[in-house]
Amino acid sequence: MATILTPSADNVKRAADALLRGELVGMPTETVYGLAANAFDAAAVARIFAAKDRPSFDPLIVHVVRPAGPLEREVLSGLEDQGVVEVSRLPQLARERADVLLRRFWPGPLTLALPRGRMIPDLVTSGLDTVAIRMPSHPVAQALLKSAAIPLAAPSANRFGRISPTTAAHVVAELGDRIGIVLDGGASTVGVESTVVAIASDGTLTLLRPGGVSVEAIEATASVRLARAPVTTAPGVPAASPGTSAVHYAPRTPLHLLPGPDALPRAASCVGLIGVFASPAAVAEVTEEVRRRYGVPVVVRALTECGDLEEAARNLFTSLRELDAGDVSVILAAPPGGNEGLALAIADRLRRASR
Ligand code: TXA
Ligand code: MG
Repeated sequence: MATILTPSADNVKRAADALLRGELVGMPTETVYGLAANAFDAAAVARIFAAKDRPSFDPLIVHVVRPAGPLEREVLSGLEDQGVVEVSRLPQLARERADVLLRRFWPGPLTLALPRGRMIPDLVTSGLDTVAIRMPSHPVAQALLKSAAIPLAAPSANRFGRISPTTAAHVVAELGDRIGIVLDGGASTVGVESTVVAIASDGTLTLLRPGGVSVEAIEATASVRLARAPVTTAPGVPAASPGTSAVHYAPRTPLHLLPGPDALPRAASCVGLIGVFASPAAVAEVTEEVRRRYGVPVVVRALTECGDLEEAARNLFTSLRELDAGDVSVILAAPPGGNEGLALAIADRLRRASR
């Protein structure tokens, strides 16, 4: 069974040594917990796919350390020198847009897909010409990256297609029998994964996955609109971001977006209600509506009772996990209205948890 370690200097060193030996480590980040391996070591990266039961067409994000000095242009040059990216292949406009975004949002929940460097194995990118890069802000992730002094490939530390972990205990519940160490960095403060953006040679920015940084903030910083990648593609057509499959984050309990099905399965005696609410009165009103409609008790997990989207994002995966572990036979979800701020990411995760 995996050991949960407090992030003391000794334990961070122990985790870094494990990574350098090619082992996997559960790593806290501000978005969700990651399952980390040496991004330069194809055999170690293969262990990630095996531990997660993850198909090899779904590429990984490479996490990089924050340099000691200010975040100037040197970040990308430094990553190019290490063979992580090859941004010199990008024309000036595209390169400048990457610089502006990383200066504003790194370290933090933004991932950029950039031309791939020579040291990154095929398995990390699923053979794509680009590599997804992120500089996490979590101090324990940064300490680990610094101690290991290698970039770390890390998907979310859940079994493939299941709910992302936001605590060390969640990682043990998902992968405890398959990994040795989880560093405990407390509950993730953002609670949804990073926003993934691709930068094309002509400077076009495409949103591949909504996440912890809002579309408005990215558009305001880059002074350009984000193009949208289709969420699903026709069979045989490669997806812009292979991991954006329609079903993901799936609880074991069936989840439906409200208004929900006409009738419940015959055995259903209790319904779970999860969602974003504007006020305690709104929680009571929707709960009563669901109770009246189906005539069964309702267990409520309000992600927020006051329309606070950051609070809702922070609670999302833990609340889904709790409902999934409880006695409810159906989960109904009330996604946030609108597309502002974190609403897009929360609605995206609830939609992909639904069936
Ligand atoms: O917040 C996060 O991003 C977390 C933490 C651990 O950093 N990581 C995470 O990784 O969510 P994962 O593997 O669950 O999701 C990675 C996403 C997938 O949708 C994948 O398709 C996309 O990033 N991706 C990775 N490399 C890509 C690339 N070169 N081009 C396009 N999409 C890419
Ligand atoms: Mg994931």
